[in-house]
Amino acid sequence: MLAENRSEASLDKDTILKVEDLRTHFVMGKRTAKSVDGVTLTVRRGETLAVVGESGSGKSVTSLSVMRLLADPGRVVGGSILYRMRDGSVVDIATLSARRMRRIRGKEIAMIFQEPMTSLNPLYTVGDQIMEMVRLHEPVSRSQARARALEMLELVEIPAAAKRLDQYPHEMSGGMRQRVMIALALACRPALLIADEPTTALDVTIQSQILDLMRRLQREIGMSILFVTHNLGVVAETAHEVAVMYAGRVVEQARVQELFARPRHPYTKGLLACIPDAKRDRAPDGTRRMLDPIPGSVPSVLSLPAGCSFAARCPLVEPACEIEPPALREAAANHLTRCRRHELL
Ligand SMILES: Nc1ncnc2c1ncn2[C@@H]1O[C@H](COP(=O)(O)OP(=O)(O)O)[C@@H](O)[C@H]1O
Ligand SMILES: [Mg+2]
Repeated sequence: MLAENRSEASLDKDTILKVEDLRTHFVMGKRTAKSVDGVTLTVRRGETLAVVGESGSGKSVTSLSVMRLLADPGRVVGGSILYRMRDGSVVDIATLSARRMRRIRGKEIAMIFQEPMTSLNPLYTVGDQIMEMVRLHEPVSRSQARARALEMLELVEIPAAAKRLDQYPHEMSGGMRQRVMIALALACRPALLIADEPTTALDVTIQSQILDLMRRLQREIGMSILFVTHNLGVVAETAHEVAVMYAGRVVEQARVQELFARPRHPYTKGLLACIPDAKRDRAPDGTRRMLDPIPGSVPSVLSLPAGCSFAARCPLVEPACEIEPPALREAAANHLTRCRRHELL
């Protein structure tokens, strides 16, 4: 018990989650996938931290590590996941017992996934699933739980909510299922919501409705959000702060305007150059210019280089970069980078 409760001093008062040097590996016989190998990030209370990075950079493995929902053979092999509970106490999720973790999941921290059927059960009506979640965490009667389930479906703007309560997930469209999953995640008013690419599979109109909904709920219930996306375009309007992931590490974290205005990592700078921008990407005759992708490819998590993982693609590389991975350092106030040469950017 003692080892599970850290002193509150290790977490700033405005911080709800601090992941520090997290390492999550998948050991498969002689091969080890170092999917997450040095993730440090901070989510501030009532704010949204966007975690961006291309496919395979370890965003989902980071999210699942925080929820302690990793599938075998995934293991947290290092680092800490400090979380401030509603009562103010701080726990390290990385070492918490399975029993205590069950009390946290759903009530303190909830997660929504890209694929809603990851959290919905096809055998139960959506009403029963939300009621079960509420009754797991709160001492309420069946009818109170049903009233809450109805209220949640109305909150996520599902039309004819009362009728929908008694339907099964397969009777609904993808967009409606996504809303049901959000209703389920929010049913116990979690203090922290982890949203792992919640809108990627949806069409653009429903995407923006769901993002609006998340913003509104954040204002109304003061929820903190860890928002995982590979789409830098939505970050500017959704997040307060951004953490950029590359090959299993966070390479930069800063306030959103600061990161867009002055990236301090060459990978981030390359990513920003790839965002389609209508004015910039049109030649004077109106034809579309080619975007400027970063040359080269991401190293495999099965054989990460000894030094900086971005070295092979980096325009600023020097011999020291290939010997040892650079530490995450403060380039400016509230602006962290894992680049030893960031001043040259
Ligand atoms: N169950 C697993 N077994 C082995 N490797 C895995 C497993 N899950 C994820 N990985 C590997 O971890 C890396 C990061 O995956 P993931 O976190 O899903 O990336 P992202 O969400 O950023 O697209 C990938 O290279 C992936 O192949
Ligand atoms: Mg993912």
